[in-house]
Amino acid sequence: MADRIGIIVNGATGRMTKNQHLINSLVPIRRDGGVKLSNGTHLIPDLLLVGRNADALEALADHLGIEKWSTDLDAALADQQYPIYFDGVTTKLRANNLLRAIKAGKHVYCEKPTAEKAADAFAVANAAKAAGIRHGVVQDKLWAPGMFKLGQLAKSGFFGKILSVRIDGCYWVFEGDLQRPQRPSWNYRAKDGGGMILDMMPHYHYMIEDIVAPVERLVCLGANHIETRWDEAGQPYRSDADDACYAILQLKGGIVAQVMSSWCIRVRRDDIINMAIDGTNGSAIAGLKNCWIQPRLATPKAQWSLDAAAPVDFYSDWQLLPETDPYVNAFRLEWELFLRAVVEGSPFPWNLDVAAGGVQLAELSEQSWHEGRWVDVPQKTM
Ligand SMILES: NC(=O)c1ccc[n+]([C@@H]2O[C@H](COP(=O)([O-])OP(=O)(O)OC[C@H]3O[C@@H](n4cnc5c(N)ncnc54)[C@H](O)[C@@H]3O)[C@@H](O)[C@H]2O)c1
Repeated sequence: MADRIGIIVNGATGRMTKNQHLINSLVPIRRDGGVKLSNGTHLIPDLLLVGRNADALEALADHLGIEKWSTDLDAALADQQYPIYFDGVTTKLRANNLLRAIKAGKHVYCEKPTAEKAADAFAVANAAKAAGIRHGVVQDKLWAPGMFKLGQLAKSGFFGKILSVRIDGCYWVFEGDLQRPQRPSWNYRAKDGGGMILDMMPHYHYMIEDIVAPVERLVCLGANHIETRWDEAGQPYRSDADDACYAILQLKGGIVAQVMSSWCIRVRRDDIINMAIDGTNGSAIAGLKNCWIQPRLATPKAQWSLDAAAPVDFYSDWQLLPETDPYVNAFRLEWELFLRAVVEGSPFPWNLDVAAGGVQLAELSEQSWHEGRWVDVPQKTM
């Protein structure tokens, strides 16, 4: 047996929506016969692609075997056959789009960040609460296999007392004059909602708070290292948004987290994002794909030695955690959980409230940078 559920997918031709939400998530869910519900039926998404460019939408819909597309968001929101609205457009447009969808009575699911400003992110979360709809936000890193295992280690008590956390994130983004840039140009223009802090702090917020502990205060230095880039049309532009951030966060329990995130750094580490946790009983380091551990009694003796070239291979003493489940794309896993939450009422804690905390962390990081000081993070009152 199969049930169907309509989903409006706005920003369909964008990089993330097309690749992660359509090609890696919703299209394979449809191809595989839908999401299996607890009563044994399958839930098949009916998709309505929305965007600005009719030709691009039609071509994408044809390519993916999707029947419906539209350039009229209001008409889509008025269509009762589509109870879910997904927003994957540029960050600047998100809060307003979400408010429109909530007003139209839709359940909403969206990319991060949920707004440019914390006040708007909290307003959207409150509107969703008042409307009684289900809401969710992409927190894909939590289901990336390496980070998922890091979370399991924390839950299992592997670390003992957690002392510190290190996040090393991002990679060199081509400027656009010699190699084609791998990210859209709006990411590097402040007026268009770009910037490393707004883009990545919401990810680091849920990674740190979900896996380790709440953030209590922080100090952050942003930087705009590269001031000229070339856009999609090959034209130079002033890239005036922050393209790196260097932050220290104090977490509940005296844990210290360092976050280094840069689009101006060349990768020589295991993955695009690495998160390391050191605790009294053991340490672990995860990338998106893999996670390595070093328990207390397997810790090699490290000491200064300038006499031998490399007395210890510090990489070889780590144990790679095994794969125990077949790989499923992180975006798809979260979509499946959200669709179950909508039709079965199951809990979905990765929601607009939590995501507003991520936007707040970004805003406080910017404040810390501009004012050159530590800032406190308001704690949630339960
Ligand atoms: N979860 C993640 O790992 C992750 C990674 C990268 C980006 N993102 C987020 O995804 C969102 C989209 O980023 P992207 O890299 O796909 O950007 P993109 O530029 O590739 O796509 C943006 C989409 O918005 C549409 N759009 C732009 N201006 C519009 C307007 N005025 N009216 C209507 N539609 C408009 C574009 O046509 C395009 O479809 C951003 O909010 C970004 O922060 C998330």
